[in-house]
Amino acid sequence: MSSVTINGTQASFQPGQTILDVAESLGIYIPTLCWLPKTGHGKVCRICSVEVKGRDRLLPACSAPAEDGMVIETDSPLVRATRKSILSLLVAEGRHDCFLRKLPPDLWPPYQKAAGDMPHREHPCPAEGKCQLQALTMKCNVPVKDLVPEPGHFPLDDEHPMITRDFSRCVQCGRCASVCSAIQVNDAIPPQFGRRAEKESWWPVVDYTRCTHCGECVQACPTGALTAKKAYGLAVREDKVDTVRTTCPYCGVGCQLNLSVKDDRIIEVNGVENASPNKGSLCVKGRFGYDFIYSKERLTDPLIRRQDGSFRKASWDEALDLIAAKFSETIENHGPDAVAGVACARSINEDNYQMQKLFRAVFKTNNIDHCART
Ligand code: SF4
Ligand code: SF4
Ligand code: SF4
Ligand code: FES
Repeated sequence: MSSVTINGTQASFQPGQTILDVAESLGIYIPTLCWLPKTGHGKVCRICSVEVKGRDRLLPACSAPAEDGMVIETDSPLVRATRKSILSLLVAEGRHDCFLRKLPPDLWPPYQKAAGDMPHREHPCPAEGKCQLQALTMKCNVPVKDLVPEPGHFPLDDEHPMITRDFSRCVQCGRCASVCSAIQVNDAIPPQFGRRAEKESWWPVVDYTRCTHCGECVQACPTGALTAKKAYGLAVREDKVDTVRTTCPYCGVGCQLNLSVKDDRIIEVNGVENASPNKGSLCVKGRFGYDFIYSKERLTDPLIRRQDGSFRKASWDEALDLIAAKFSETIENHGPDAVAGVACARSINEDNYQMQKLFRAVFKTNNIDHCART
C-alpha cells in the first residue's frame, strides 16, 4: 500500500486522497481558508501550503494528491513563514478593522475613518469572533497592528434586502461562487479564477437575475464580506450567542437549522453542515424568513367560530372534539362521500400518509387530495 511520511510519521493512504486528507487522518492540523470540502473547491489561498522534500515549491495540501514516498513537513520554519506572509497580505489588502478595534479612533488610518462614515459601516464587523481569517491570523501570531492597507476601491452591494456584500472584507477565496454553482446550481456569481495575480478584477458580484436569495454564499463566506443584514450590528460572535438546533418549519423536507439566539431573539439562521437532508443548505425562506415567529398576529390557540361568525379561543381538546363530532354527524347523515380532505404539501410525508389513511380506511371515502397535485 502507498504511504507518505508527515512530520516524521508514516501513514498509508488510498488513491485520490490529498495531503490534507492524510494529515487529518493522523490528527495533524493544517490551516485552510478557501478549502470547502462539500464542493472540493480549494487551491486558491495557499494557506495550507506544506513543504515536500525534493519539490522546489510548497504544495497546497487541500488539493495536492498524496503520492507514494512523499516526505512532508506541515510546520517547518518555511511553512510557518509562508503562512504568516499570506495572512499578512490578506489582512493588509482589505478593511479588516476588527484588528484595529482596540486602537482609539484617532489612531485609525484614514481609510478606516472614512469607512466609519459610510451608512452600513458604522457597526463593527459582524463576522468578528467567527471569522476564519481573524482566527487564523491570531492562531498564527501574525502581527497586524501595523498592517495599514492603502485606501482602495472595493465594490459594495448593499441593495439586497437580506444580504450585505461588502467586498472590502473579501479575500477572494471563491467559496461563494463555488457553492452557488455546485450546490445551489444557480451560477449567480462568476467563477473564481485562481490566484489573484492572474486577474486583478474578479469580485464575487452577483447576477440577481440568476440569484434565488438562498444565502448559501453567506454561509460559505469565511470572512465578514457576506453577511445577513438582520444580523448586522448584533455581534454574532460564537461565544456570545446560543446555538439552537431545530427543524425548518416551512415544508416537509425537514432541513436542519442552527439558530443563533441572543437575548431570546433569533439573530441568524444557518444550515447544519453534515446533517441530512440539507447538508448545510437552505432556501430563502428557511434562512431568512423567521420574523413571523414574533408576529403579534400569529395564531397560538385554536379558534372556534361562533354562530355570529366571530371567533373564540378554544383548547386543542375542545377543537379536536368538535371536528370529530362534525365529521361523524356529516357522515352519519349524508354518507362518507359527503366529506373530503385536502392534504398539505408543507406537511411531512408521514402526516400526508396518515391523512389519506384517515379518509380511506376510517371515513371510507376516496375524497382525498393534495395541494401539490395541481
Ligand atoms: S472579515 Fe474577519 S478579519 Fe476582516 S474585519 Fe471582519 S472579523 Fe476581522
Ligand atoms: S444567495 Fe444563493 S443564489 Fe444568490 S448568489 Fe448566493 S448562493 Fe447564489
Ligand atoms: S465574498 Fe466571501 S466567500 Fe466570496 S470570495 Fe469573498 S471572502 Fe470568499
Ligand atoms: S486552503 Fe488550500 S489553497 Fe486555500
